[in-house]
Amino acid sequence: MKGVILAGGSGTRLSPLTRITNKHLLPLYDRPMVTYAVEALVRAGIRDVMLVTGGTHAGEFFRLLGNGQEWGVDRLFYAYQEKAGGIAEALGLAERFVDRDKCCVLLADNVYQRSLAPVAKRFAAQERGARIVLSRVAALKHLRHLGVAERDRGGRVVKIVEKPAQPKSRFAVTGVYFYDAQVWDVLPTLKPSGRGELEITDVNNWYVKRGQMEADVIDGFWGDAGESIEAYYAVNDFVRRHKVNAR
Ligand code: G1P
Repeated sequence: MKGVILAGGSGTRLSPLTRITNKHLLPLYDRPMVTYAVEALVRAGIRDVMLVTGGTHAGEFFRLLGNGQEWGVDRLFYAYQEKAGGIAEALGLAERFVDRDKCCVLLADNVYQRSLAPVAKRFAAQERGARIVLSRVAALKHLRHLGVAERDRGGRVVKIVEKPAQPKSRFAVTGVYFYDAQVWDVLPTLKPSGRGELEITDVNNWYVKRGQMEADVIDGFWGDAGESIEAYYAVNDFVRRHKVNAR
């Protein structure tokens, strides 16, 4: 399985911090944010990785991560996103790298207390389709900034709504996505959303509609450090006090 780390975007919600650097290079406790994403993939057994970034600070990722070996990556590739066109647009740049293999896509501002290894293992055994990771989020004000999954009684995801004004469940869709090769046929069919981006939620709903979406509910802390300045500090506080990406 290949790994794709998405570290682009303009990071407007953390402005003006992101005026002088890429969001994913900001510190989380004692090291730059993106290194937690690299570590999460490596600990999940994924060591062939492409990092997609853009903007004026892309060169700093080379300086930080180099060829990846120091961080446990076997082969680290880079792609440059020429405009911030959304998560799904960024993912498109990894098509040739993934080369119809299965892939794990991780947003570089997402931090997980627990290892993603069990989820990666379940997806490796999955015949086809996609897999997402849900986290229970109590506060409606958070859910309104996230993708929210509606589930049936058996726990199957029936619909994902991006940033709902009235969230219908407490299950946030976190920023790790597992896809089979069908994803490359879905991407060209997407239309930009209200915020002018190709939305990963539209990709995920494509799989949901075809009954090909599996989901795990993850225990332990999960945070999107790019959601807001408050979320950024909540993730920082957690990382400083506890271990993340732990078994
Ligand atoms: C993105 C996704 C959203 C998901 C979130 C997780 O939101 O669109 O569905 O819940 O990542 O971090 P964005 O950060 O682009 O607003």
